[in-house]
Amino acid sequence: MSWYEDLSLWSGFSDVLFSAERARHAADLVATSPLLAFPPGSRVLDQCCGVGFFSAPLARRGHRVTGVDIHRELLERAEAESEGSFVRADVREYVSPDAFDVVLNMYTSFGYFDEHDDNVQVLRNAYRSLVPGGELIVDLLSKEIYASWVGPPKIVDVPGGMVVMRDTILDDWTRYRTDWTLVRGNTAEHTALTCWVYSAAELKDMFSRAGFEKVQCFGNFDGGPYDGEATRLIVRGTRA
Ligand SMILES: C[S@@+](CC[C@H](N)C(=O)[O-])C[C@H]1O[C@@H](n2cnc3c(N)ncnc32)[C@H](O)[C@@H]1O
Repeated sequence: MSWYEDLSLWSGFSDVLFSAERARHAADLVATSPLLAFPPGSRVLDQCCGVGFFSAPLARRGHRVTGVDIHRELLERAEAESEGSFVRADVREYVSPDAFDVVLNMYTSFGYFDEHDDNVQVLRNAYRSLVPGGELIVDLLSKEIYASWVGPPKIVDVPGGMVVMRDTILDDWTRYRTDWTLVRGNTAEHTALTCWVYSAAELKDMFSRAGFEKVQCFGNFDGGPYDGEATRLIVRGTRA
């Protein structure tokens, strides 16, 4: 089993990944970000939707949302919180031709697959699922941003304990490994995941290979440039 197929990672570390604070932040981004301001009633596909942190506020704004995730338990939480349709599928396979005005892939839900081409396939599936003129937005931590903060372990407080996070760069900066240890009282739970880490130039190239045009990068959800101040890499491309 690959790490992303292991539900215990997503549910065991839910206090970090799917915290109430993150839900509020996602709702705030949907309310304020010019990059997430879609025409009323847009059909939105949320790839790797998790518990629906972006699906729910988008649906509340009147968009017609479909969330796709590999874990049924996360989709059940999304369904309980949000209008919309939630589908259990692997993003390497899920395609709904010409069905969406927007495809989102949020909060570093990209680069999970061992084969680089499988990651490109996720972009191809988004392309085929969009109507002409529709747009894909991918939001992640890029190689450049990683380079600015990778190093000493970080500690994040969670209810009743803490998570210690340590990142290791692998394979000549093509991938990274994250080790997470959740410490609560006398117990410690450990998990690790390995992802690709892409630069802006690499992702732009992947978007082009998948067929996208007008590929642009942003460094935050205000639509600011992807420069030395960037806190995220947000790549947007349009289906021709
Ligand atoms: C970092 S979480 C982000 C979830 C959501 N986008 C958010 O902003 O909260 C990544 C999500 O990707 C899902 N996932 C991992 N591998 C997947 C795959 N092969 N196909 C579909 N979903 C997958 C996980 O179940 C998890 O919900």
